[in-house]
Amino acid sequence: MKEIVLKDPLDMHLHLREGEMLKNIIEYTTSQFAGAVVMPNLNIPITTTELALQYREEIASGSKYKRFKPFLTLYITESMNEEELKHARSKGVKILKLYPKGATTNSQDGLNEIFTPHMLKICQIAQDMGFILSIHGETNGFSLDREYEFGKIFAKLAQDFPKLKIIIEHMSDHRSIELLETYPNIYATLTLHHITMTLDDMLGGGLKAHRFCKPILKTPKDRDMLLDLAINAHPKVSFGSDSAPHLEKNKLKDNASAGIFSAPMILCALATLFEKHNKLENLQAFISDNAKKIYNINDLDPKEVRLQKKHCWVPSQIKLIQNNIIPFNAGSLLEWTQII
Ligand code: DOR
Ligand code: ZN
Repeated sequence: MKEIVLKDPLDMHLHLREGEMLKNIIEYTTSQFAGAVVMPNLNIPITTTELALQYREEIASGSKYKRFKPFLTLYITESMNEEELKHARSKGVKILKLYPKGATTNSQDGLNEIFTPHMLKICQIAQDMGFILSIHGETNGFSLDREYEFGKIFAKLAQDFPKLKIIIEHMSDHRSIELLETYPNIYATLTLHHITMTLDDMLGGGLKAHRFCKPILKTPKDRDMLLDLAINAHPKVSFGSDSAPHLEKNKLKDNASAGIFSAPMILCALATLFEKHNKLENLQAFISDNAKKIYNINDLDPKEVRLQKKHCWVPSQIKLIQNNIIPFNAGSLLEWTQII
């Protein structure tokens, strides 16, 4: 039977949450990935090194895969300072996450404005200390143009801080691709959902709240051009699932939470997608090699994941004590199965 082996899979944008939720979902990632960039937008956001270290402990004790490496991120707030950044760096935290205030889940402590003297100082220190700056790049304009409008900010930051690596997280708009081509220090992560779906998959028929995410799904042209970057493993992009679990009741209420829980079987889903486009040979670069180069990762415990060409199903729901989580493409059939 046809098999492929993926070495050191990395998820460069992941929400593991905290408490009960973390315990219930973490294994979906740690069973598949050697490491992941873990987002800091918890209910109490990870704004200090102390909180990051506590979170590292919680992640380590929550999973039976002890070799899994979480790359922690520090949430940029108005009160972040040089001392904190030095401390973070000394403890191995090397990614800063910028949320514009109000852009998404738990972004209330994010930044109202980007080009303030404070933020410029943070960028200067980040550049000097070798941090990577990951950005949720959306304005508060019209939904479908939010990422595009933020493009000017990406361009200015990239020009003013040419040695600072800047990541356009979950790139969703084809108009952002030009930034990758123009600025040597701009990179991107791509999700499975933005490279396979459009707005119509969420609301073209009946409303599918489980496909509601930020940035919002866009047009067929956006999907296709981003898919092209992924399946050709463009060297400036890496895979970041943005898997973001929410309880079903919170996805179905008024003012529903944005987020798609794509972690279960995601490597099998990617293998199915890449094979469909005759690009299976590029999956290794997209899922790991590119990320290792972009983020200078050289301290992983090696992990090999073996996939076999055999059907498997995405679970239709994940049961927690209080409620369920509905995964991305719940109940659907995939062409590949993970065997180890
Ligand atoms: O859809 C999203 N969900 N986008 C984000 O940026 C955050 C995430 C979450 O934390 O739920
Ligand atoms: Zn996210």
